[in-house]
Amino acid sequence: MEENKNPNESHKPLLRGGLEGLIISHLVAASENNVIGKNNQLPWNLPNDFKFFKNKTWGMPVVMGRKTYESMEKELPGRINIVVTTNKDWVRSNVVVAHTIEEGIKRAEESDCKEIFIIGGGEIFKQSYYFLMQPLDV
Ligand SMILES: NC(=O)c1ccc[n+]([C@@H]2O[C@H](COP(=O)([O-])OP(=O)(O)OC[C@H]3O[C@@H](n4cnc5c(N)ncnc54)[C@H](OP(=O)(O)O)[C@@H]3O)[C@@H](O)[C@H]2O)c1
Repeated sequence: MEENKNPNESHKPLLRGGLEGLIISHLVAASENNVIGKNNQLPWNLPNDFKFFKNKTWGMPVVMGRKTYESMEKELPGRINIVVTTNKDWVRSNVVVAHTIEEGIKRAEESDCKEIFIIGGGEIFKQSYYFLMQPLDV
């Protein structure tokens, strides 16, 4: 089995050259058996985990998939919410919309913050992992 093969060959690392010094973090809460969600919700309610998440991401751009956004009641306050969707008609107030993950990261990069958080869900983690792991073209 080819475990590390990129299933998203079309997702090329468009931005790698411009990311020097910028930290791009995946922030994920997972159970011991690596579950991160169920029925488009978090499978737990852990106030300390929410506090940790809030403290880590406050003031920073957060990049998320459309389903993760829809799973919340509204955008995350105090952060630049960037939502990735293929739907060109999808618009929400207080949300920056991107149509590829690369574009989402680029929008986040424009904020000039020192760290960008990719906050899920599963599809976004999977796809962004592969292009962020690509070697830089130097
Ligand atoms: N435990 C944690 O840390 C954590 C964090 C976040 C979320 N979650 C959980 O994860 C689950 C949601 O994850 P999910 O995998 O179902 O969905 P998701 O990754 O949140 O969102 C998937 C959606 O993102 C858009 N998308 C994905 N790849 C794209 C691309 N390359 N270009 C443009 N748009 C793209 C598509 O939206 P369109 O269909 O609109 O095109 C797709 O349907 C929920 O249960 C949530 O609670 C857990």
